[in-house]
Amino acid sequence: MSGDVSSRVLGPDPTVGSWVAVGQADCPGADSAVRVELGGVPVCLARSGGVVHALFDECSHGRVPLSEGTVDGGFMECWWHGSRFDLDTGIPAGPPATGAVAVYPVRVTAGGIEVAVPGTRTGGARG
Ligand code: FES
Repeated sequence: MSGDVSSRVLGPDPTVGSWVAVGQADCPGADSAVRVELGGVPVCLARSGGVVHALFDECSHGRVPLSEGTVDGGFMECWWHGSRFDLDTGIPAGPPATGAVAVYPVRVTAGGIEVAVPGTRTGGARG
């Protein structure tokens, strides 16, 4: 189907990640977002309705950090031209952005939040 934004995703492939812990200091507060670097990937962590989401931290329109935008009702709104990206899918709800941004799985553990980030190695034994 032409115009299907879900087929054009900006950011590293979200299907090849492994879990990376996010420090407590990097966890976003209610209805806010922060930028973190996880495994060399810029990630926008956004908390909306008590749920933390992770997206590639670059707007698919102007390549500015989405984490500097606004969290609003399940969407991340770009601060520059106002496109709103669905926090679950990374798909923009409207123009000017037409391409989706990658979203990454998030899980809550006893130690905090972990994000599955592409390009990182899986756990294994330490030293
Ligand atoms: S740079 Fe994000 S909508 Fe234009």
